[in-house]
Amino acid sequence: MVHVLFVCLGNICRSPTAEGIFGKIVKQHGLSDRILIDSAGTGDWHVGHPPDQRAIKAAANRGIDIRHLCARRIRRYDFVKFDYILAMDGQNLNSLKHNCPKSYDGHLGLFLEFLRSDSCDVPDPYYSDNEGFELVLDLISEAAENLFHHIVKHHL
Ligand code: 4NP
Repeated sequence: MVHVLFVCLGNICRSPTAEGIFGKIVKQHGLSDRILIDSAGTGDWHVGHPPDQRAIKAAANRGIDIRHLCARRIRRYDFVKFDYILAMDGQNLNSLKHNCPKSYDGHLGLFLEFLRSDSCDVPDPYYSDNEGFELVLDLISEAAENLFHHIVKHHL
């Protein structure tokens, strides 16, 4: 079993989108019982909330249902449980590194490392318009495919 956690700031836009997109790829390949997926936020403002309506709509347009997801904050046990902890941007990666125990032996890094070697951020779409959410979906979709092939190659 490989455990993958996506992390953004609020856990209502980018990381639930990544959870939904990556989950769909994993399911399509019949590997849902081998790859466990979750998401979390480094902030706590939206804990207990469903994803942002704009994220729900943008994902639904691409056939992905994320309505059932519920925001939570990163917790200490995540650094025990998850083999991959993938941050949506540098700010969240810094926050995760700050809280990461020395004993963590998984992969903590930027999600878009799996998109290109000069890794970059998934831009925060919260204060943007629909185009911001479309860009989030484009970036996450591409990186999720690469992440999937990486995990299959190295772990399954
Ligand atoms: P996310 O987007 O980190 O992709 O879930 C945000 C959601 C909420 C806020 C910022 C970013 N906020 O400031 O409340």
